[in-house]
Amino acid sequence: MRRVTLEDIYVHPITQKYVRRSGMAHAISVAHNAYELAKQYNVNPDWAVKAGFLHDIGHYTWYRDGEWDYEQYQRFDIHPIKGAERAHKLLVRLGEDQNAAKEIAHAILFHTESALPADGFKRTPLQQVVHLADENDKQPNDAHHYRHLNKKEELSQIRVLDYKLNKENLLTGS
Ligand SMILES: [Fe+2]
Ligand SMILES: [Fe+2]
Repeated sequence: MRRVTLEDIYVHPITQKYVRRSGMAHAISVAHNAYELAKQYNVNPDWAVKAGFLHDIGHYTWYRDGEWDYEQYQRFDIHPIKGAERAHKLLVRLGEDQNAAKEIAHAILFHTESALPADGFKRTPLQQVVHLADENDKQPNDAHHYRHLNKKEELSQIRVLDYKLNKENLLTGS
């Protein structure tokens, strides 16, 4: 039995505030990509989907003179660190298994290059899945952060993933 569903995470005000800031449509696409990649990499699909969905929860606004300052943001961005912490807190509050919360937080921490330790660091399969799931959804000029779905469509896509994950959970008992 999954302790926390994707819908539990989706409806939470913290998710609505921070995931929506960086793009709910992007988060949902990355969650779907992570579900598919989880099979190839033989990692826990529930963890992959949750990490994919929450990977950009650490984004924050970075404006200069009313304009988003991409150059500054890219140089000094720490959204993977903020995201790992926010996601971990949210998951634990929702009652997630502690080990799952830790692995998901680490996958968020290492989803881009910005928080990777120097030299020779190798992502675990789960971390690689989340990294690739994000890369596969990226569009020129960061357009992936600005795509929109209506809320009904968002929820229906979230429920599709929950349905698949619940079914696998019943089959494997994991
Ligand atoms: Fe990101
Ligand atoms: Fe992303």
